[in-house]
Amino acid sequence: MSEINENSGGRITGWGIALGSETITNDDLASRMDTSNEWILERTGIQERRIGGSTAGLAVQAGQDALDMAGYKAEDIDLLILATTTPDDQIPATSGVVQHELGLTCGAMDLNAACSGFVYSLVTGFGFLKLGYKRVLVIGSETLSRVTDWEDRSTAILFGDGAGAVVIEAEAGTGCLLGWNLGCEGSLRDILYAEVGGKIVMAGREVFRKAVIAMTESAKSSIAAAGLSSDDISYVIPHQANIRIIESAMKRLGIAQNRAVSVLQKTGNTSSASIPIALSEALNDGRVKSGDILLLVGFGAGMTSASAIIQWGETNE
Ligand code: ACO
Repeated sequence: MSEINENSGGRITGWGIALGSETITNDDLASRMDTSNEWILERTGIQERRIGGSTAGLAVQAGQDALDMAGYKAEDIDLLILATTTPDDQIPATSGVVQHELGLTCGAMDLNAACSGFVYSLVTGFGFLKLGYKRVLVIGSETLSRVTDWEDRSTAILFGDGAGAVVIEAEAGTGCLLGWNLGCEGSLRDILYAEVGGKIVMAGREVFRKAVIAMTESAKSSIAAAGLSSDDISYVIPHQANIRIIESAMKRLGIAQNRAVSVLQKTGNTSSASIPIALSEALNDGRVKSGDILLLVGFGAGMTSASAIIQWGETNE
């Protein structure tokens, strides 16, 4: 039982990542299918991706690191939200397995909003802090290699496996979430899908076009909701699908390209794991300073979109 506390904001106090165990370079792919390192690099920015492991296994690894950094034991966590579009089983939800393996005693649920799933889950987690929970573990974890058609060169080059996790913690006041936006254009189902038991089917050029629009519109809504302008954004943590999508969105938003955090060169597209992996990279390398404003923005199958404005604060450091 928790008491509703509408004044409760939240902060990110721990984070962690995990990547698939095997590295697959562009040259590895070129030895198996009709493609080349040059084509993949020029059209996507991806150099290599990591595959292997299970969605639960990667989530446990990332989640444990986030718990350790935040300094919490399993019993301190009030809720686990696992963003995934590649659950290990149809039934039950993968979050239950993760809950058990981490030794958590709280409720657990999966949230599927494809590559927007982490930001959807983060915003949901902040909502639960207002409902009275003190600490929520939010994880994005994917094993896209299991739903990749390795015979299809237009999709096989894109995806990788990984997980990223954060602990968010209640605090008095407004907290670090200054604005957010969640969207879905359900009529676009057919441009990117995998049937139950099937592999990913994608109309790449169409997804590309819609992705740039969805990211830009969602980001603009969040920036406006926070009462800010593009000039106030210190770093953009975008979904890591294609460097050209990121560059187009940055241009439309009027934010300098060097403000975008990108890890896709080494990870490929890890769907709901990509934003927390990129966020962890930016936090670990020290570029994010107290007071910086971060724009997390993603898009994915559905077609979903999601963004959040986070102000990094002293209590995060
Ligand atoms: N190697 C060499 N040639 C290739 C490859 C490849 N791996 N893949 C496609 N081609 C060829 C095509 O056959 C085509 O040849 P043609 O002109 O003779 O017909 C040519 O390259 C151009 O193909 P396009 O599809 O137009 O290439 P494009 O520049 O659009 O790049 C890509 C393709 C990389 C897939 C791009 O469209 C893209 O990134 N789209 C968005 C993908 C994405 O973000 N997906 C999100 C998934 S998120 C989720 O929810 C899981």
